[in-house]
Amino acid sequence: MTRLSAALLFTLLGVALLLGQSTQVKTLPGDPLRGISAAEFELFRIGLEDFTEVETAEDGLGPAFNGTSCAVCHSVPAIGGISTMTEVRAGHVDGEGNFTELNGGTLFHLFSIPGHRCQVQIPAEANVIARRSPIPVFGAGLVEAIPDETIAAHEDPEDRDGDGISGRAARIMDLASGRERIGRFGWKAQHATLLAFSADAYRNEMGITNDLLPNEVALGVDAETIALCSPPRRGVEDVRDRRTGMRGIDNFENFMRLLAPIERGPEDDETRSGEQFFQSFGCASCHTPVLHTGRHSNPVFDQKPVRLFSDLLLHDVGTGDGIPQAAAQANEIRTPALWGLRLRRPLLHDGSAATADQAIRRHAGEALSSADRYREGTVGERSALLTFLMSL
Ligand code: HEC
Ligand code: HEC
Repeated sequence: MTRLSAALLFTLLGVALLLGQSTQVKTLPGDPLRGISAAEFELFRIGLEDFTEVETAEDGLGPAFNGTSCAVCHSVPAIGGISTMTEVRAGHVDGEGNFTELNGGTLFHLFSIPGHRCQVQIPAEANVIARRSPIPVFGAGLVEAIPDETIAAHEDPEDRDGDGISGRAARIMDLASGRERIGRFGWKAQHATLLAFSADAYRNEMGITNDLLPNEVALGVDAETIALCSPPRRGVEDVRDRRTGMRGIDNFENFMRLLAPIERGPEDDETRSGEQFFQSFGCASCHTPVLHTGRHSNPVFDQKPVRLFSDLLLHDVGTGDGIPQAAAQANEIRTPALWGLRLRRPLLHDGSAATADQAIRRHAGEALSSADRYREGTVGERSALLTFLMSL
């Protein structure tokens, strides 16, 4: 081979390698879904701006609130993720286990706008106080596109197959459509759609009323005092966006719908053997590795595998926070998705577990036999399983 043709060959090889690499571009945390249109990218960008925008009392924040923007609680490892923040729910439970809401709700806001006459207080009758960690919204649009029937098909409320696991689908009334749907978002699977969750979070986390939830809430504070606490607002409630002609809640929805899931880390022999223990220990009975979206007019959401590691059902794994909410009973929690697990801490609904090992050892109730298999496994089996989890 002449020197020239050798050089040419190397150049061609280099080009081929570069091309090869560019077809495997990585999706980073916070990136939009691959394959969206330019118009969708613009909606994503504007939605991200709104999700990050810090509101003031004049913009409608409060009078009672938990955070000043969506992103203050959803920012690790990128906007849309989580934070170490927890919020508070409380109520009263009697000797027979009957739960009563105090002051008409269970969410006791952390903060109030200055003046602080609308600061909520946990009433003296409360004997259940629960904390809840944020849930990341990466890949939420794919989760939203999973048909209700797919989730319901996995439920087994009477435990007919006798495996000790009896997941229930959360049948809730969707704020956005007014129809009964299967909830999948929130620790209690309290919402089925990102629009409904957006309205709920805008009003309940930030105190900003909107088309779907037009009334201010500050538990234990009467309407007259609430009116006195709130400064006059600059615009009308949940004004339409100049850029999109949409409401704030639509912009949040667009951002979350188009946000990509966290990409999996590298797989090797250790992670593959760990994945087998994930199956044989029974983890996959609730942390279902993959669910599929249904038919969808948008190709990005059409019949796609969603590798979330959740059945999106309600289970009693002995960690329940004592607060009934929407279709969920006091002791039930929706199986959390495990995708992106390596990039988030703390774990469990109340942020009480520092490591995956601690979280697994806390599983009891429906997950007792699975947790026992983990405990009784060899050190090597447990270590492989944890390596697998840290590749998600
Ligand atoms: C004070 C912190 C805080 C703020 C501010 C906040 N969130 Fe959250 N977010 C949470 C917590 C805590 C949860 C879990 C709540 C639960 O299920 O009880 C959550 C859950 C969610 C979920 C459910 C995700 C899933 O897959 O289940 C969505 C969607 C969401 N938030 C969207 C928003 C939007 C949109 C905003 C802004 C309008 C917002 N959040 C503002 C703390 C916050
Ligand atoms: C019966 C259903 C069920 C089984 C079986 C089960 N889990 Fe879970 N898992 C859950 C539920 C529900 C939670 C949420 C509990 C909470 O937050 O209080 C959870 C939480 C977790 C978490 C914490 C996730 C987070 O985001 O905070 C990890 C990690 C986890 N499970 C791993 C496993 C592994 C590994 C196994 C097998 C050894 C397993 N689970 C078996 C239902 C189950």
